[in-house]
Amino acid sequence: MLSTSPKKAHLKPMRAISRPVSQIAGSVRAPGDKSCSHRAVMMAAVAQGESTVTGLLEGEDVLNTAKAVKALGAGVERTGPGAWTIEGVGAKGFSTPAADLDFGNSGTGARLMMGLVGGHDVTARFVGDASLSSRPMERVLKPLREMGVTAETATGGRLPAVIRGGNLKAIRYAPPEASAQVKSAIMLAGLRADGVTIVEEKEATRDHTERMLRAFGVEVGVEERVHGGPVVSVRGGQMLKALKAEVAGDPSSAAFALAMALIAGEGGASVTGMLDNRTRTGFIDAAKAMGADLRTEEDGQATGEDTVRVIAAPSRLRGVSLDPALVPSMIDELPIFAVLAAFADGKTTVTGAAELRVKESDRIKAICAMLAVNGVEVEELPDGFIVTGRGPRGVSGGGTVEARHDHRIAMSALVMGSAAKDLVTVDDIAMIATSYPEFFGHMATLGADVVTA
Ligand code: S3P
Repeated sequence: MLSTSPKKAHLKPMRAISRPVSQIAGSVRAPGDKSCSHRAVMMAAVAQGESTVTGLLEGEDVLNTAKAVKALGAGVERTGPGAWTIEGVGAKGFSTPAADLDFGNSGTGARLMMGLVGGHDVTARFVGDASLSSRPMERVLKPLREMGVTAETATGGRLPAVIRGGNLKAIRYAPPEASAQVKSAIMLAGLRADGVTIVEEKEATRDHTERMLRAFGVEVGVEERVHGGPVVSVRGGQMLKALKAEVAGDPSSAAFALAMALIAGEGGASVTGMLDNRTRTGFIDAAKAMGADLRTEEDGQATGEDTVRVIAAPSRLRGVSLDPALVPSMIDELPIFAVLAAFADGKTTVTGAAELRVKESDRIKAICAMLAVNGVEVEELPDGFIVTGRGPRGVSGGGTVEARHDHRIAMSALVMGSAAKDLVTVDDIAMIATSYPEFFGHMATLGADVVTA
């Protein structure tokens, strides 16, 4: 068993207060997609030659991935806002890092890198913050061990973990959970395994690894099935070729501005450059089913992905029973979807979302507490929640929401405060920088009244 790393000394957490405003108006550009940013950095790091990445999300999660690939031997340089040059290690492969690889708050960074590092003849110790160190890693380590990776973890399959890779053989694996992180870790290890690695998905999850690998010149097989998600395959031994990559805007971040416009009294908002991919746009579909006035226009392209401009106007929302099939395509948007449900007329039921229990926080508990403390009736279910929307009665607000090391809970609560009757306070906003460093700037641009204290 491994000892846990010493806790960092924390300064007094910074709080934020969101006051009600009568109108929301303006347009913002969606920040770089977090999933695509991690993947662009990781793939460029193992490619042959020098890649440039633009539109990169410079949130702490992605910066930790950049530091990790640098420690493993890639050349990493920031050349401007969101612009990075990455010299890949190519055929030489990664080198054993001199120090621990610290993934901070990021499950995606840690889990995908376990796969990528697993394919190389190196040993690396993975660590993370308190939230990440409480999250399950066995879902990734079990299939990686089958491929030949050696992995030793702290109690219960948590970080810290020491990973030793090299000499992998391909496997065929059907993950028990619908998880793009698990699929991606196996595929990234499969790049250097002997044979064809195959992942049978339970349900379709985000397919950015498949799309971006193809952009880097790798052949990836995707076979759609009538029952269950796609079967994805990759032959080992394929070398990635350096690329000029452009990262599309993040729908999971865009959802905050869009939701704020939907629950506003007046005005509207638009978000440009948002990635348009059916494995990620469940929030738009679910909000439309509630009666949301959302329009989408074509807005260009990024590496492997189309992008759109989304325009949102204040809407009378009604409660819905969310189709569980939509859950994987809006898994990170469920906290802000719960805020829409709070303002809607009638009950909204979310089920089939047990994965929320193992996100940056237990998001089912965190969502229920966020709503309850602000005067919204909510019932916790094992795999979701039922919100009794306030409709014309309005959300009272006035509560202090515990962020629980979870950026999406903090941001959802602040959006809720913009349309509540009384202000909403969040106890700690530090984690917002992990995924959306421009959040406070964007809130101000759109007319929200948020102060930090
Ligand atoms: C991600 C996959 C999702 C998501 C996470 C990012 C990715 O996790 O919640 O924020 O980039 O692959 P799971 O695949 O574990 O559900």
